[in-house]
Amino acid sequence: MGAPEFNPMEIDLSLAKRIAAARRLVALTGAGVSAESGLPTFRGAGGQWNNMRPEQLATAEGFRADPKMVWSWYQHRRRAYRLAAPNAGHLALAELGTILPSVTIATQNVDRLHQRAGSRQVIELHGNVVENHCMRCNEPAGEVSLESDELQACRHCGGWLRPSVVWFGEMLPVEALESASEAAAAADVFLSIGTSAQVYPAAQLPALAQHNGALLIEINPEPTPLSHLAEAVFRAPSAQVLPALVKAIRQVS
Ligand code: OAD
Repeated sequence: MGAPEFNPMEIDLSLAKRIAAARRLVALTGAGVSAESGLPTFRGAGGQWNNMRPEQLATAEGFRADPKMVWSWYQHRRRAYRLAAPNAGHLALAELGTILPSVTIATQNVDRLHQRAGSRQVIELHGNVVENHCMRCNEPAGEVSLESDELQACRHCGGWLRPSVVWFGEMLPVEALESASEAAAAADVFLSIGTSAQVYPAAQLPALAQHNGALLIEINPEPTPLSHLAEAVFRAPSAQVLPALVKAIRQVS
């Protein structure tokens, strides 16, 4: 038997009114948002880091030690992302962007599903898997064919191409982190959705927003280190909560 369905009656209309009145809403999203698109999370039940090692697959050292294995894993993920479709949670966030004056999504996801759902203001904190760059000279290399898992060489220097994602131990793109921090500090409402809130610096954004006066809401079936800070918590999948929340926001607007 699966988890019980989320009951939209759980949405307090006074909370919906506070969200509806937001001038600036920011959503920090993580792998859980894409779970209902069939993409596995990293931590928690069914998480990839339960049986795979992040230091082998998501670090520059891991790539140098075994570039073929790491490249194959990303090619496999890219194929999965291409086949996946945005779910009701992604679509509801995109719809929210058409209702409120400003909705910014700061995502740790590299799957581009927010953009495919129609969200306009998406900050990619951890890069994306679509593009590549050279491991040696950093030259951007765009997209590659997903037909083969063969390593690809840089056209400029012959170094191996790597996906343009942020690996552990690497800096986040400066502009992305700055924009996300500015948006968080200026937010009236901050939603933390489908993230275990364990990976920094992304995980500091909710507290930054709350410190600057934002209403902090968490949507996650499991507790996280953030849960005790949040003013409202929805313990249910985001593909169920977000459409119901957007419907309630429309009702009170
Ligand atoms: P995690 O895999 O750490 O956390 C996913 C969260 O989603 C967990 O807290 C789950 O409880 C929750 N979850 C699961 N199903 C859900 C659903 N249907 N709706 C809502 N929430 C759900 O993912 P992130 O927090 O995104 O970095 O992880 C952050 C970073 O760590 C990733 O960007 C990745 C990872 O290692 C790198 O690879 C460098």
